[in-house]
Amino acid sequence: MLIFGSNSTHISLINNILVQNKTDSRMPGKKKDWFWLILLLMLGQTQAQTHSVIKNDFKSGTNEFLLNEKPFVIRAGELHYSRIPRPYWDHRIKMAKAMGMNTVCIYLFWNYHEQQEGVFDFSGQKDVAEFVRLIQANGMYCILRPGPYVCAEWDMGGLPWWLLKKTDLQVRRKSDAYFMERVKIYMNEAARQLKQFQIQNGGPILMVQVENEYGTWGNDQQYMEQMRDMIRNAGFDKSTLLRCDWSSNFHRYQLEGVVSTLNFGAGSNIDEQFKKFRIQNPTAPLMCGEYWTGWFDQWGRPHETRDVNSFIGSLKDMMDRKISFSLYMAHGGTSFGQWAGANAPAYAPTTSSYDYNAPIDEAGNPTDKFFAIRKLLSNYLQEGEVLPAIPENPEKTIQIPAIEFKQTANVFNNLPKAKISTEIQPMEMFDQAWGSIIYRRTLPACSKKQTLIIHDVHDWAVIFINGEVIGKLDRRKGENTVELPPLAAESRLDILVEGMGRVNYGEAIIDRKGITKKVTLKSDDKEEVLRNWTIYNIPVNDTLLNQPKFKKQIANGPAWYKSTFNLKETGYTYLDMSSWGKGMVWVNGKNMGRFWKIGPTQTLCVPGCLLKKGKNEIIVLDLDGPQKTTIEGLNHPVLDKIVSDKGKKQQFTLNLNGINAVKSGSLSDERGWKTIQLDEVISGRYFCFEALNAQNPTDNSSSIAEFEIIDENGNSVSSLNWKVVFVNSEETEQSANGADKLFDLQESIIWQTKIKDSVKHPHQLVIDMGKEINVKAFRILPRGDNSTKGMIKDYRFYLEKKAFKVQ
Ligand code: GLA
Repeated sequence: MLIFGSNSTHISLINNILVQNKTDSRMPGKKKDWFWLILLLMLGQTQAQTHSVIKNDFKSGTNEFLLNEKPFVIRAGELHYSRIPRPYWDHRIKMAKAMGMNTVCIYLFWNYHEQQEGVFDFSGQKDVAEFVRLIQANGMYCILRPGPYVCAEWDMGGLPWWLLKKTDLQVRRKSDAYFMERVKIYMNEAARQLKQFQIQNGGPILMVQVENEYGTWGNDQQYMEQMRDMIRNAGFDKSTLLRCDWSSNFHRYQLEGVVSTLNFGAGSNIDEQFKKFRIQNPTAPLMCGEYWTGWFDQWGRPHETRDVNSFIGSLKDMMDRKISFSLYMAHGGTSFGQWAGANAPAYAPTTSSYDYNAPIDEAGNPTDKFFAIRKLLSNYLQEGEVLPAIPENPEKTIQIPAIEFKQTANVFNNLPKAKISTEIQPMEMFDQAWGSIIYRRTLPACSKKQTLIIHDVHDWAVIFINGEVIGKLDRRKGENTVELPPLAAESRLDILVEGMGRVNYGEAIIDRKGITKKVTLKSDDKEEVLRNWTIYNIPVNDTLLNQPKFKKQIANGPAWYKSTFNLKETGYTYLDMSSWGKGMVWVNGKNMGRFWKIGPTQTLCVPGCLLKKGKNEIIVLDLDGPQKTTIEGLNHPVLDKIVSDKGKKQQFTLNLNGINAVKSGSLSDERGWKTIQLDEVISGRYFCFEALNAQNPTDNSSSIAEFEIIDENGNSVSSLNWKVVFVNSEETEQSANGADKLFDLQESIIWQTKIKDSVKHPHQLVIDMGKEINVKAFRILPRGDNSTKGMIKDYRFYLEKKAFKVQ
């Protein structure tokens, strides 16, 4: 329990000692602390005569939160202990405080702590209790979000990979007893670490969150009730509980005794966001559970940024209305190693940099957004509260001259012991958590070309015949087919598959890696399933698992590269990976994350605490092959350089001649979902949506946040296998607003026509739903931010069984 004011240091000291003594009760040598505690309590008694008694309590009152019975506006900033090297935890917490925060919001990442079933680790970098202790020591409060599902652009949204060994696994539903049992075990472990930090026990934790954005996933009311009870029974028995959802879906489930908050992004219209919520909850305190300061980057898509002014505008609106908030993220940091996740549909892996365009950058430095927030919030402090000075970054930024790599080891010359499998299976079934896997077998001679079809590539594959590259497949593009040349003799087929981030959001979250179902070989007249495989597992982890045998030689194909470099001083540096292909980098044995030449991230952030004065070792695994085998350490990141696939984009037009729209009409200028019923149920696989003009007659653009197809039973059709077949304008260069954002299930991310040089109306897009659907209606969600740009008025909707003509 802390207060802002004259005696806060005194009280926080008592609390620290209390909490520490509870944690260390089994440790000898703590007697000195008791001496200080008694002394401080005696001192406190004199002060208590002049101050009213303060209780350790936080609760939700009428229209406001109450901290020790006084109104309290939460100004939280989210930090992830797993994305910040431990030596910097204290600095980043201090930075959040200097920015104007009074609370730090944290996720707990289940899969970070239980990497093997039943083996928990809360030590070192994973010592979350220490992180919470530091929050308290800095005079701040904490909101804890233990999941079990957290999203967070983190592998599988925080769920452990080993759950996937169960073939019929279901997650986030009470119907899977195994899932529920494992959650319970985890939650008990989490509580063992953290329950002592509930504010009622003298710690900084104000609230504990139940699950995460469940409204976007389902409406299994009982699952959520069981999660709530599990959290309570595990030991978070005194805390106020909270949940977070969106303004469009919070009503999908009810959770008695749990505070509701809404999540939304920079530039949102605050009154609009809370409108429906207010009507249903007339006396609840208002809080934005996640106010997105920026956004995450995905491989092959433009770097995401959020404008400072529109961000500050909505933050001010919240402050003026005394609405509590949590900034997601205050500081993003880095998803080191294999931890970055992915979104789907369409499959889009997240980059290792989690800079997030947040107010505190990846290396812990303040940005323009930081200063703007600090300035704004200095006008909204609690009585007696003073913003501390901005702490100095413990690390400077350094440059490292070009490192040359002469030692190499070919992946194919360093294979581990083989495993045998009749059927294709994903890597989890071979007890492999992350990395690459090679599937090998022989193919008989064949005088004709044949087609190899892989169901499904998770996530990037290189196909070799007798060691020669025949093709590459990329899940992001829905690729699964390679043409094989005629084979003069029996030949060796190798399929190397690299798993990238596991999907952390939406129904694609059951995302096994490697090849998930089967491989077939198709010739003129037949298609056969290939069986009897030899398997090689090439796992990766946060630390380097095995050193291959390096030699001074030029590498051939997928290979490891090794070098050393000497430093006189250490500091943050950014490894320039732009001349390399695709893979990962280990510095002094620690995995810095993924690189991929396509961008937008071209650098890997190396924290100074991982570097040493004198000799340092660097190892690169490149599966696609570099152009140049040198790496420089830059003094700045390169987060925004997309290298697009070779070849000029062809221009196509859509031919709608002779095709009749099944529905046409006008949309109102209101926000929120709009449902348009067809006159009758019509069957079709491809639909075309045509925007004929905008609500504002001078606006030449179009935008849509989400699009849904409703089937004959009134259900929303899954968009998991949808593909954009045609779009005549989409913004994929200046910002990530391509047509697939229509069905990415993220309402704040929109499809938008090109900002400059867009084609004029009509704006057309065609989507292949993958199979025929009996369509009853479609739903459109216009953009939900403060802008009205591209809000569509007149439209036409076409639905066909066969593909539309695109020339
Ligand atoms: C949601 C989730 C977060 C994170 C953000 C996007 O709000 O709750 O975990 O994924 O989206 O960064």
